[in-house]
Amino acid sequence: MSAAGEGGPDDRGSGEGGIGERKSAHLDLCIREDVESRRGTLLDEVHLFHEALPELSWDEVDPSLEVFGRRLQAPILISGMSGGAEEARELNRALATAAHKLGLGMGVGSQRAMLLDPASADTYRVREVAPDILLLANLGAVQARDAGPARVARLASEIGADALCIHLNPAQELVQDEGDRDFRGCLDAIGELAARLPFPVIAKETGCGLSPRTLEGLLAAGVAWVDVAGAGGTTWTGVEALRGSRRQRALGRALREWGIPTAASVLFARRAGLGTIASGGIRDENDIIRALALGADLTGLALPFLRAWSRGGAAGVMEVGQDLTEGLRALMLLTGARDLGALRKIPRVLGPALQGWVGSSAPHRA
Ligand SMILES: Cc1cc2nc3c(=O)[nH]c(=O)nc-3n(C[C@H](O)[C@H](O)[C@H](O)COP(=O)(O)O)c2cc1C
Repeated sequence: MSAAGEGGPDDRGSGEGGIGERKSAHLDLCIREDVESRRGTLLDEVHLFHEALPELSWDEVDPSLEVFGRRLQAPILISGMSGGAEEARELNRALATAAHKLGLGMGVGSQRAMLLDPASADTYRVREVAPDILLLANLGAVQARDAGPARVARLASEIGADALCIHLNPAQELVQDEGDRDFRGCLDAIGELAARLPFPVIAKETGCGLSPRTLEGLLAAGVAWVDVAGAGGTTWTGVEALRGSRRQRALGRALREWGIPTAASVLFARRAGLGTIASGGIRDENDIIRALALGADLTGLALPFLRAWSRGGAAGVMEVGQDLTEGLRALMLLTGARDLGALRKIPRVLGPALQGWVGSSAPHRA
């Protein structure tokens, strides 16, 4: 997506100042304005049982896991946000430093800027400060379709990534005055990448979630992992409503709450049997444990880490990551789950709105 220093669609110019200005406008808006959904993730409709006799000690509760060949101390990712600009280099390095110290994973923001200007690769490179973290590369589906597998593979390998997120953001593109309008051929392109690249490909939304039909298409195309990035957190249609032309602002406002809530999208992804990253509006340890109890393999947060960085740099990011990890461990103990395998099997009660989403979703094809 075009936020935070990538060469997004708005880089073609919307009469609002230079590229750099627009890039920092996105970051600034996310840091300072109300850019979060008002409808919520529906994770608050996932209720878990308290176990008064957990028969566990704090020390044996283990939220660690291995994924894409990397060991994580907790199933928490710093979702991809930035790259391409000077400010983005600083942000990526701070996020990576914190991820390295805490054993968390991280994604970089869209690497479209690298396609346009190979010298910008440096703003995405974090291996110097974080040699062993799980690192996810990132590119938009439209750009991946147009660039082809060889160039896309290079983007990931040039930053030493372990896997590649292909992001999907049609709602944001439609709102942007200069955004993409032709989304044909993206599914085939993602399938080709999944078949040809020597590392995993993750299909990632950016705040509108993934439907059963989209998930089925991805599965049939050979994709094994998704990041649902559902509705309930940062809304990119909402961000775009804060800038640009009258048309952009109006459409952005109208689509501000558009999307499938994160909790519903996680259930759809698990039902499809896909490896699942739960993100979009994950804000605290309660959201994390609820998403994991729904079957997610990992969780991701963007806005909370961005704001922590803006308040306190790498130390601020570390504090948030530490609190989340500590809180998750506490909740694992209180639900009697020694490890993440056990956590996925704990009983849960789903509220009516979430049940409505899941129940109504089965017949989506004639
Ligand atoms: C400043 C900012 C920039 C982002 N840039 C990208 C991006 O380049 N590529 C991408 O896939 N997602 C991008 N995202 C979306 C996030 O990765 C995430 O999917 C979304 O913000 C929902 O998570 P949240 O509610 O925790 O913020 C960005 C988010 C923020 C806040």
